[in-house]
Amino acid sequence: MEITPSLLFLQIFLLSAVALILPLSQRRRRRNGSRPPGPPGWPVFGNIFDLGTIPHQTLYFLRPKYGPVIWLKLGSVNTLVIRSAKAATELFKNHDQVFCDRRCPDSMTVHNYNQGALAIGRYGSYWRMIRRLCTAEIMVNRRLNETVYLRRKCIDNMIQNIEKDVEIRDPRSKEGREFFNAMGKVAEWSGKPNISDFFPVLKWLDPQGIKRNMERDLGIAMKIISKFVKQRMEEKKLGEEMKTKDFLDALLEYQREGKDGAGKLTEQNVFILILEMFFAGSETSNSSIEWAMAELLRHPESMREVKEELDRVIGPNRKVEESDTENLPYLQAVIKETLRLHPAVPLMLPRNAMEERNFMGYVIPKDTQIWVNAWAIGRDPDAWEDPFSFIPERFLSSKIDYKGQNFELLPFGSGRRICVGLLLAHRVIHLALASLLHHFDWELPINTTPKDLDMNERMGMAIRKLVPRTESNSQEACNIRKIKDDDRRPQYKVI
Ligand code: HEM
Repeated sequence: MEITPSLLFLQIFLLSAVALILPLSQRRRRRNGSRPPGPPGWPVFGNIFDLGTIPHQTLYFLRPKYGPVIWLKLGSVNTLVIRSAKAATELFKNHDQVFCDRRCPDSMTVHNYNQGALAIGRYGSYWRMIRRLCTAEIMVNRRLNETVYLRRKCIDNMIQNIEKDVEIRDPRSKEGREFFNAMGKVAEWSGKPNISDFFPVLKWLDPQGIKRNMERDLGIAMKIISKFVKQRMEEKKLGEEMKTKDFLDALLEYQREGKDGAGKLTEQNVFILILEMFFAGSETSNSSIEWAMAELLRHPESMREVKEELDRVIGPNRKVEESDTENLPYLQAVIKETLRLHPAVPLMLPRNAMEERNFMGYVIPKDTQIWVNAWAIGRDPDAWEDPFSFIPERFLSSKIDYKGQNFELLPFGSGRRICVGLLLAHRVIHLALASLLHHFDWELPINTTPKDLDMNERMGMAIRKLVPRTESNSQEACNIRKIKDDDRRPQYKVI
């Protein structure tokens, strides 16, 4: 064969390309060889389509194939998923600081929300300041004790609304309705997978319009909150100091006395923090109460047990109080078991690796997203016997708690980023569930068996039942029926 100059050039070009690409791809394979195992994924899209509609469940069921940690490529985002109690122990005990940054979803950058928020805030001086303020000043037992009467009033209203068969979520004022509608939308947008988060280069395009919608609805909620905050500021200026301080009072006080610079708390930050506490605390607590009720309805023997305990400890002549919780071990066990099986934020809030890290023998690059699958950890067969069954009794003789020290039970997370509202949530869930159970008898509608109760999940801000307890206001649409047992229980006097 005659070798022409052009053929020679082509051969040299191909040889050089192979010589260049081969070592590169081998190096990448060697490097990727030290990544955790995971499904192969598609070109460009990676594993986006592998997640299904309920990602925490899909990822749990992939475990037998890939083990306790799994590596995903979600578009261009490297993702490490923690799926066992042992891996969670390693993460929170030895790598918490490096992995305690957050990834902010693109939609939450509107109105500079991410700049003022705690939950999606980057790990830095502002986050540290707000976190310290919350854990030392606001979410502490001393301060929570001062606001017991507020939660009492909410519970009494709830009981009264159920008695009258009023739609619980329907607030009386127009502004209240507008606020709840807007927050519902905000929860919807924040729960929707956003292509811009998988391909940050597409952020400017906002292909699904999620950011635009978020801007509108978060704007409405912020406007209403700011009016409320300003009203409180005016009251303070006029010297109308309350005897007890709530979260807003503490924030305003801090803002007034606060320092300048990175630690400065602006008025806008106060609006955002108030909104955030509402956002972070309401869906999660509601979801936990709803799941507890559903599990009790499916397990009449547990329902009987918890009601007997309430009868014994509280008796027929008074209401349940927050201070009763410590004397209600079975109720506590019911709530632990509910949170084990139905953690309201099943993949917690995504964390971000601040630097490259060797984790369980794998190299985890900087800026890897970390999902801790609390749903999977609660069902880890190496940590739990009969993990899929609802058995509150397993907690009666055990010291396992959800305060972040027992890594097989992490509904509130652990480490530096553990839920800041844990103490408040603990009080609210116990009080609300105990009051609902003590004041009413609950049973399934006629012709419905515990097996028929739909326990499917739907994704959102917090994981909720696919078929909620009440789809509408009408009694027929409820998948449970309430019976007021007036003979045995006192009528509630609403404050
Ligand atoms: C059943 C109720 C609740 C559950 C299951 C829950 C769960 C969680 C989880 C899993 C995290 C992430 C933890 C981590 O990354 O390690 C978190 C963070 C957070 N939660 Fe909760 N939460 C609940 C109630 C509340 C309440 C009542 C509030 C406040 C009023 C609240 C405020 C927050 C905030 C501000 C963060 C972010 C903390 C940070 O990043 O530093 N949560 N929560």
